[in-house]
Amino acid sequence: MEFFDYYEKLFGDRWPALLESLKGEGCATELRFGEGLEPYYLDEASVFAAKALGVEPGDDVLDMCAAPGGKTLVIASQLKGEGSLQSNDRSPDRRLRLQHVIENSLPESWRSVIKVTGYDGMKFGLHKKECFDRILLDAPCSSDRHVLNSPAHLEVWSAKRVKRLSVEQGALLASAVDALKPGGTVVYGTCALSPLENDDVVRKILKKRPSMRFVQIEDLLEGADRTEFGVHILPDRSQGRGPIYCAKLVKEK
Ligand SMILES: C[S@@+](CC[C@H](N)C(=O)[O-])C[C@H]1O[C@@H](n2cnc3c(N)ncnc32)[C@H](O)[C@@H]1O
Repeated sequence: MEFFDYYEKLFGDRWPALLESLKGEGCATELRFGEGLEPYYLDEASVFAAKALGVEPGDDVLDMCAAPGGKTLVIASQLKGEGSLQSNDRSPDRRLRLQHVIENSLPESWRSVIKVTGYDGMKFGLHKKECFDRILLDAPCSSDRHVLNSPAHLEVWSAKRVKRLSVEQGALLASAVDALKPGGTVVYGTCALSPLENDDVVRKILKKRPSMRFVQIEDLLEGADRTEFGVHILPDRSQGRGPIYCAKLVKEK
């Protein structure tokens, strides 16, 4: 099948072990922010990607593709009710889930600085130029682990779709970069396996936007691989965590 051939070519000898680990259990950690609040379970690799943004109280933050909301919770817990967080997602259904998660898993004082919106992420660069200190772009991607475990999705997977997604990811990242204040930071992330959706997207934006440079993400999770611009956390080497790719870019002042 196309999916298996594609990734076997990419990962070579590593593929059999990676494939097994992708079929296995994930590695979720419990996020709980107070008595009586709903816990949220999130892959530790996702927590790592959200923390890589380095949010501090007082920052103006955009979570461009935020639903169902795990990484928004991490960001809100770093803001601690100071600054602002726009948690945006284009999908109405997923936004309902995002709203539920924010209302039920965060204390009121942290919730008060969060605004949930439903814009197309592509528009931020135009309409919110240089507005945010930090932006998380957790981009729509191939979601290969999910695909592998869903016969219906596996059936419609194609290499063409990976390419199409990488074009969309590039456009979203350009929008995020343009919405960033000078000196601001963007973290680009996916849960995709292919470099086309990961380092290649970053390489292209660094060419297109010379004001941007990438910075090394420090304090890696055990088993994470460094790539040309970022970090790839894959379940075969990282105790079931991932897949998560993330890269951190800073805009010059
Ligand atoms: C990988 S998921 C985000 C997961 C989320 N960050 C979390 O931690 O729970 C990608 C999201 O992007 C949203 N999305 C896709 N295209 C978009 C666009 N053009 N603008 C805004 N959101 C978009 C999808 O609805 C989906 O919820």
